[in-house]
Amino acid sequence: MTMFVENKKEFYQEILAQTKALIAGESDIIANMANISALLFERLDKVNWVGFYRLIDNELVLGPFQGKVACIRIPLARGVCGTSAASGSVQRIADVHKFSGHIACDASSNAEIVLPIKVLGKVVAVLDIDSTDFNRFDAEDELGLLNIVTLFEENIAK
Ligand code: SME
Repeated sequence: MTMFVENKKEFYQEILAQTKALIAGESDIIANMANISALLFERLDKVNWVGFYRLIDNELVLGPFQGKVACIRIPLARGVCGTSAASGSVQRIADVHKFSGHIACDASSNAEIVLPIKVLGKVVAVLDIDSTDFNRFDAEDELGLLNIVTLFEENIAK
């Protein structure tokens, strides 16, 4: 992890503060997705893809991201992203090759975390992060990313 701070908890607190500063006063969802994906891609270690898919007409559509070109449309309930969007739950996958239905956009991805983004209780998008390291994301990563997503949800709901 690109750590300028002592531990993961502090690291995520710093990223949360940076996210807050980036999106404060800006209501354009695409602009904010673009900056959040750039921030996370720059600061998180060992990640090869960070980006958003938006839920449009029951289908996930590729949004702002950093990394290699990716699948444009993902049907709901397909793959890790579709499962997260359909269930409204975080999917933290240690080995994507063991996830039935995983969609391999980048063959070098081995682990993945997907967090649903909800407005008024409904999923409007997902944040997807891939890593080449197996078991890259632990409970602390999940909590840190969840706080960032919660901040973003509040910004969208305003
Ligand atoms: N692996 C994802 C697809 C999106 S890419 O990782 C960018 C999935 O199974 O949903």
